[in-house]
Order: sequence, then C-alpha cells, then structure tokens
Amino acid sequence: MRTIDWRDGRIVAIDQTRLPHHVEFLEIDTVEELIAAIRSLAIRGAPAIGVAGALGVALAARLHPDDPAALHAATDAIRAARPTAVNLAWGVDRVRARLDADGAEAALAEALTVLEEDARCCRELSERGARWLVETVGPKVAVQTHCNAGALATVEWGTALGVVRSLQQHGALGHVYASETRPLLQGARLTVWELAQIGAAHTLVVDSAAASVLAQGLVDAVVVGADRITANGDVINKVGTYPLALAAARAGVPMVVAAPESTVDLATPSGRDVTIEVRAAEEITALGAAALAPQGTETLNYAFDITPADLVTAIVTERRVILPGAGGRPDDPIDRS
Ligand code: MRU
Repeated sequence: MRTIDWRDGRIVAIDQTRLPHHVEFLEIDTVEELIAAIRSLAIRGAPAIGVAGALGVALAARLHPDDPAALHAATDAIRAARPTAVNLAWGVDRVRARLDADGAEAALAEALTVLEEDARCCRELSERGARWLVETVGPKVAVQTHCNAGALATVEWGTALGVVRSLQQHGALGHVYASETRPLLQGARLTVWELAQIGAAHTLVVDSAAASVLAQGLVDAVVVGADRITANGDVINKVGTYPLALAAARAGVPMVVAAPESTVDLATPSGRDVTIEVRAAEEITALGAAALAPQGTETLNYAFDITPADLVTAIVTERRVILPGAGGRPDDPIDRS
C-alpha cells in the first residue's frame, strides 16, 4: 500500500487526518483539492508533499492543456501550499522544468520517476542509517523519535521509521519511544499506528517527557526526519525536535537525522534563512470541538523548529553520512560519480 500514488489520471493518497481509526483514500482530480489536502495535512511529511507537488504539476498540465497562464498559476499555487519543507518546491520545480522542455506526457513520466526515486532512496538511506547506528552504538538500538517520519510521510517506507524498520529486519531494534507531537499528534496518531503495524515494541510519551526518557538512559539514539537541511547542517523539523536535540546532547545520546538528498537545500545557507510555518490558533486552543484555552487567546503555533548543526550528530541520506556535530557540512564536496 502506497501513501501516495498516481492511478487512472488522478492522485490517490491516504487521508492522514482520518488515521488511526479510519483508513480512507482521497481521490484528487483538481489542483484545489490537492492544495487543500496538503494544507490540512491529509498529505503530509516532507517527501510525501514533494511527490504530491511533482504529481500536482502533471495533474495541472492535464487540466490546462491550452492555457499556459492558468497552468503557471496552478503550479505556483501548489508550490506555495506550505513553506517550510523544501521537498514541495523541489518536486514542483523538477517536473515544471520537464514540462516546459518536453510537454505534458514527459512531465507525468518525470513525476512518476520522483515517486519511484522516493521509494528507492528511503530504503537506501534506512539501510545506511541502521548500519551506522549498529556500528556506533551497538548491536541492539533503542530509539526515540518525534512526529511521523514513516511510510505515511513518504511514498512507502519512511526515513526515521525506515531506519527503525531496517534495524528490525536485521534483528537490531530495541524499544521505540514515540512522542505524541503536539498539537496535531502525528506521533500518537500516525507513528504509533505504524509501529503497531510492523510489530515493533513501542511506548508513547508526551512531548514534555522526551527529555526524561533520554535522561533515564532508556534510549541509545534519537532518530528523526527533516523538512529541510540547510547548507551548514542546520535541521528544520517538526517543532519539538530542537528541545529533543538539547536533551540528547546533555544525555550524551546521538542525534540522528534521516532524510533523502531532496531534503538537503544547499541554496539556503542556514536555518535562520528558512520560513517557519505558523499555523492556526485553533490547533492549540481547541481539541476537536472542545475549547481548551479562553476564547481569543493569542498563540504562536510554530509548526517546525531549527536544530543548530552543532547539536546534530549525523545526517544520513541515500548517498552519505554527514557529521555536523564534528564539523561536517552538507555542502562539503561529495563524490557524485
Ligand atoms: O507538519 P508535518 O506533519 O508535515 O511535519 C512533518 C515532519 O516534521 C516530519 O518529521 C518531516 O517531514 C520528515 S518526514 C520523513
């Protein structure tokens, strides 16, 4: 089962707002539906929205075959649906370039390549991450993770949870601690659901207990995904990642980021240069229909935070392991042969 796919001329994606109690699929036929799905987090996670952007350009090209202005406006709107994960703009730009050069059929082929590459890259980076962890911390690795960087955040395998799955396949997985991830509970709703599906032993903790899990020595590594990794090695990920990195440093536990190269943004020098999405007040002043805070309470609902490079032990991609905490940088020259 793929989180997102192209079937019969439309985008098909699991509706993540309905999980864990309902497994339902959206059939997306218009650009407006796609943008709404990305904004509502029905489709979410950096690699998955990168694929959504790529498929969205192919969809727009079908909808506007003879209207270049409408097509351009549609792809611009998809690109702007969420600001922080670089994958969305990357997916749109890659397919738009192919569309401009070779037309709509070539654009669809390119979008399908983006989709297949995500499936392959996630498996490769997961294997590399699992190998690095076993070599670095030992033969059984207990993991703490945050948000959802699993199959649901990608086409089918995951990044941080992909590493967990690879560890499991090699008999090297200890216990997994997942933080609930306020306010939209991607950890409690999605990560816990995925861990149960794969039969990994796991425990849910509230976000504010995450530092105590580390301080108590319950885990050997923190493994998270990323929405953007800047040229200097700063990592932008779900809000709550930065405090986790601070606590991991204090506890002497490696802070590992698992992400595809499509999340590495060499054009952006540092985390300070990234737009951090701020979401609606209602996400934290209410829980479903129940009000939590007094009406009119002012909020600052950051969706992401910036973990400075020096707190990141390792960034693992399908191509390499970067060690920002030891001075390594994503923009160091790499062997691209
Ligand atoms: O707001 P979300 O749920 O899209 O945020 C997702 C995250 O922060 C993930 O950790 C990140 O995209 C990596 S997913 C492989």
